[in-house]
Amino acid sequence: MRLVLLGPPGAGKGTQAARLVTRFGCVHISTGSTLREAIASDSPLGREVGGYVAAGKLVPDAIVLRIVVERLSRPGVEGRWLLDGFPRTVPQAEAFDELLTGRGEPLDAVLCLRASTEAVVERLGGRRTCARCGALYHVRLIPPRRDETCDRGGGGLLVRDDDRPEAVLRRLEVYEGETKPVVGYYGFPGRDLLRLVSSDGTPEEVGAEILAVLEGPGAKRP
Ligand code: AP5
Repeated sequence: MRLVLLGPPGAGKGTQAARLVTRFGCVHISTGSTLREAIASDSPLGREVGGYVAAGKLVPDAIVLRIVVERLSRPGVEGRWLLDGFPRTVPQAEAFDELLTGRGEPLDAVLCLRASTEAVVERLGGRRTCARCGALYHVRLIPPRRDETCDRGGGGLLVRDDDRPEAVLRRLEVYEGETKPVVGYYGFPGRDLLRLVSSDGTPEEVGAEILAVLEGPGAKRP
């Protein structure tokens, strides 16, 4: 499978990506996680992008494209990947199409998770991420068994810098202005790539709906 996962901040892309990579045995490439790792390690890339991410703005296209090219070329990826949070602008989508044509790796599907503004504000307001393994929780909706501790390896749970209310509002504006046109780009008649899925249900319900659109009757076979 070669998949792109789109949707507003907090729609559940990371949550569903973790399920999909287990199911399809593909490599999860999250541009947001890669940027946060660079920021946390205070690398030159991290210093360059830290201000954009904390403010909820998009990182320049050229930087993100460099990251994607590098991640797709790593050993072990071998043409089986799920891109989470990329492309996020029409120029990124156009450059990605060109890149995939050059690599001979056509996309199988673009999944777009749909969620109301109320739902994403609630989800981001309570999100916690394991500092060790990146597992995702929500203090009320998907709580860990023990307060502020990951169920898997006992890692501490962190609040993301860009989940502050002002950064969340900025990210939602950026999604409306810059990323929604990407949904239209993939939904262009004749491309037959876009699959819209509501993310209103529980993670299990959303996961089942995604599998139905990817594997059910009428789904395009990779
Ligand atoms: P990125 O990390 O991609 O953030 P995002 O797109 O804003 O999405 P999130 O990670 O916030 O949410 P999600 O949809 O993954 O939801 P999650 O599963 O965590 O990007 C961060 C920043 O990096 C950007 O703002 C930008 O600066 C930069 N960047 C990244 N890519 C870029 C690009 N291509 N170009 C330029 N800049 C880029 O779920 C959220 C919460 O809800 C969790 O608590 C979870 O437990 C809970 N939850 C999930 N599903 C459900 C459910 N079904 N029911 C109840 N709760 C749920």
